[in-house]
Amino acid sequence: MIKLVPRIAALLAAVVLGSSAASQEDDIFSFIPDGGRSLLESIRSEGLPADFESALQSANGDAAYWRDLLAKAADTAPQIDALDDWQAQTLAQYLAVRAPLDDPDVDLPRDGRDMALALCQSCHIITVTITQDRTREAWLGTMNSPSHIEIKTTPEERQLLADYLVINAGIPIDLIPPALRAGGASY
Ligand code: HEC
Repeated sequence: MIKLVPRIAALLAAVVLGSSAASQEDDIFSFIPDGGRSLLESIRSEGLPADFESALQSANGDAAYWRDLLAKAADTAPQIDALDDWQAQTLAQYLAVRAPLDDPDVDLPRDGRDMALALCQSCHIITVTITQDRTREAWLGTMNSPSHIEIKTTPEERQLLADYLVINAGIPIDLIPPALRAGGASY
């Protein structure tokens, strides 16, 4: 545990530096790519094709199933067409775990990014997680290790977090805000 102390110090420094305005605290994490929840909120805010919206509320399928539906919906929905490959895959994997969803007025359940921010920075800074380029099995292995097994998630959520990290982690250290860099990628 002793080697984690500098990381906790760095996290506290980041929080203090960002505390002059609430928005700055949020901004320090803006380099971490959107997860499925916020991608879905953003494409939904522009109105979705009726058949796609109804699939969201009734269908159950794997990521390939959702990629297929997204590709079809992209023909009539420019905001879906504008998703890049990583975003479409992140969203498809979110839907594979979370759909069918409640109607659009209910808050969407958390995505991989939400979980990384909520669950992966109390013992070490987020940088330890977000700079690692790993396979799904390796992520699941970390989450099942003694230091991580107590983290409150369902098995499905662990898979969702692992899938999110496979696609979106591995961020090069020079893209990490300096306040989050100190020692963070040295594991
Ligand atoms: C309860 C404290 C705690 C929390 C919360 C925590 N970690 Fe860790 N983490 C540790 C400790 C302790 C180490 C160093 C020892 C080790 O590797 O188990 C570590 C190391 C790591 C490492 C590098 C070593 C390895 O096992 O691969 C990664 C990657 C990692 N954590 C990812 C995560 C992710 C992802 C989350 C959120 C789901 C998270 N951590 C949340 C305690 C924690």
